[in-house]
Amino acid sequence: MVSQALKHIARDYSPAGQRERSATFPYIVSTVEAILPPSSSTHPHKILLPGAALGALAHEISSLGPHIHVTTNEFSPAMNLAYRYLSSPSITATAIHPYIETWSHARSRQQILRAVSVHPPTTPSSCPPPLLMEGDFTSVFHHSQGDYAMVVTLFFIDTAQNLLAYLETIYHLLEPGGTWLNVGPLLYGSAPWVQLTKEEVVRVAEEVGFVFDGEVGEMEDVGYDFGVGGLYRHAYNVVHWKARKPEGEKGKAKGKGWW
Ligand SMILES: C[S@@+](CC[C@H](N)C(=O)[O-])C[C@H]1O[C@@H](n2cnc3c(N)ncnc32)[C@H](O)[C@@H]1O
Repeated sequence: MVSQALKHIARDYSPAGQRERSATFPYIVSTVEAILPPSSSTHPHKILLPGAALGALAHEISSLGPHIHVTTNEFSPAMNLAYRYLSSPSITATAIHPYIETWSHARSRQQILRAVSVHPPTTPSSCPPPLLMEGDFTSVFHHSQGDYAMVVTLFFIDTAQNLLAYLETIYHLLEPGGTWLNVGPLLYGSAPWVQLTKEEVVRVAEEVGFVFDGEVGEMEDVGYDFGVGGLYRHAYNVVHWKARKPEGEKGKAKGKGWW
């Protein structure tokens, strides 16, 4: 877990992670900007990022302006400790050795031991920084029905043991007319109860009540190996979509309450 957190620090906050951030962050930030432009309303738009890990994307979305209030959620104590450490005011630029436990596929000892520079999270002073809610996504937000204008999932939905619980939770948390933006693979790595295909996820989400806007697309060759480099590299063809909770839909998901 600690090793994963160190690599996420490199992915999120170092020049070494720029290529991986560039593959998905600009698409997500520009989509949020298009859906939730600055408004004259004094009512801010609330956005939730479950499974946000080290939160760099959350900081980029927060930087769009004071009309956006971002909440992140993460249940890994290692991720949350690393995020809280990096966010503490005393931390400025620093260096870490994130690959020190990654001994496979190395060209040299120097490659394993190399340092990367880290620039801690920032948000302009005019924008509220993200608020971290620690805990399991499917249980910590039970009292937040209809609170969020958007839920953004990046490399997240395939972490579910019960994918249906994730879909119902996202639906439950969106305000009527709110949007779920998803980008990520369908790796299903956490002892999943179901492993649905892309087509099946869409069909089940529609059963829950979501209405899909535009294409269910794919992005090719999206890396998520944290800049380890060396003698191995893999990448995903990630799926992405925008899906809406219909206007006037105040109720719970139409599913059978699997969770
Ligand atoms: C593959 S990582 C992606 C992290 C981040 N979205 C990104 O793109 O860098 C998935 C993250 O979701 C977290 N996670 C998995 N299941 C969760 C749950 N039920 N509640 C909250 N976080 C969860 C994991 O700890 C991990 O940090």
